Amino acid sequence: ELSDEERIFNELIANEQRIEPRDWMPDAYRKTLIRQISQHAHSEIIGMQPEGNWITRAPSLKRKAILMAKVQDEAGHGLYLYSAAQTLGITRDEMMDQLISGKAKYSSIFNYPTPTWADMGAIGWLVDGAAIANQVPLCRASYGPYGRAMVRVCKEESFHQRQGFEILLTLMQGSEEQKRMAQDAVNRWYWPSLAMFGPPDDQSPNSAQSMAWKIKRFTNDELRQRFVGMLVPQAEILGVTLPDPDLKWNDETGEYDMGEIDWDEFFQVLRGNGPCNAERLERRRTAHEEGAWVREAAAEYARKQALKTKA
Ligand code: ACO
Repeated sequence: ELSDEERIFNELIANEQRIEPRDWMPDAYRKTLIRQISQHAHSEIIGMQPEGNWITRAPSLKRKAILMAKVQDEAGHGLYLYSAAQTLGITRDEMMDQLISGKAKYSSIFNYPTPTWADMGAIGWLVDGAAIANQVPLCRASYGPYGRAMVRVCKEESFHQRQGFEILLTLMQGSEEQKRMAQDAVNRWYWPSLAMFGPPDDQSPNSAQSMAWKIKRFTNDELRQRFVGMLVPQAEILGVTLPDPDLKWNDETGEYDMGEIDWDEFFQVLRGNGPCNAERLERRRTAHEEGAWVREAAAEYARKQALKTKA
């Protein structure tokens, strides 16, 4: 027998209406949203590092200004998402503790290094491209604050994707060395960007329930497939090769067949054993410690303001 609250919740979901912070919701719904939204926020914040690495070395003033804007956008995305998660009853401090203690997950993709300028192009094109494919459907997520945050995030991600594509296009029209650099970056980022969508559907414990609750609208494999379909024509325009010898159009399925993702590598990265996991966490921990005085000053300022308004 369903309670009235549960019945109302189920009806809202069935009618494509939104669940808002003050509405009743099942504990498991709240928990999975906190899990997904906080992981997403952490990904944006850790995701500032691989590109932050190139701000001081961007090849022109214009490139530097664009890259700085992009990294700042990511900080903004992290902050909206932390705010969205806070509406579910977790505090910013709790989430930050989970991140810097190494308990929280964040996207596997940000544990790979960025040795060349072409990595800025490949990240924009492939990583932000994958983020868009994953996040556009999240604009329709059943939880209001998450879906609304995604609208602006996706607009900014589209700009990020275009700027990455344009970096690669410029390199591909340059010298032989620049072309090699662009192709090398695509070779290194292609497979990790496909893994971003998460484990295959038959190994994705959260998908079925998240689809039923209309948090997720498509499965991990569906989105991955859609992403590859978008990449193929863009790779042709760029003149780069996608590093999958098994990638080919299948007339019967109406989709691309593709090679097997290295899932051992993916799960190793999730366990903290990727090429840059330790470095990324250490950097965030240091930034957090060095920023303590800012948090203290802000809290003190807020305390004084509150006293003033009382007086
Ligand atoms: N990196 C790290 N962890 C991952 C990844 C990944 N690429 N993909 C899946 N996982 C984790 C899941 O978080 C889950 O772990 P948990 O149960 O401990 O939380 C586990 O692997 C199993 O995966 P699923 O059951 O498929 O999990 P879920 O239904 O949450 O789907 C997905 C994973 C697709 C990433 C989903 O959470 C999502 O869409 N999140 C929002 C988008 C996002 O976080 N993007 C971040 C990268 S892009 C960016 O914006 C900067």
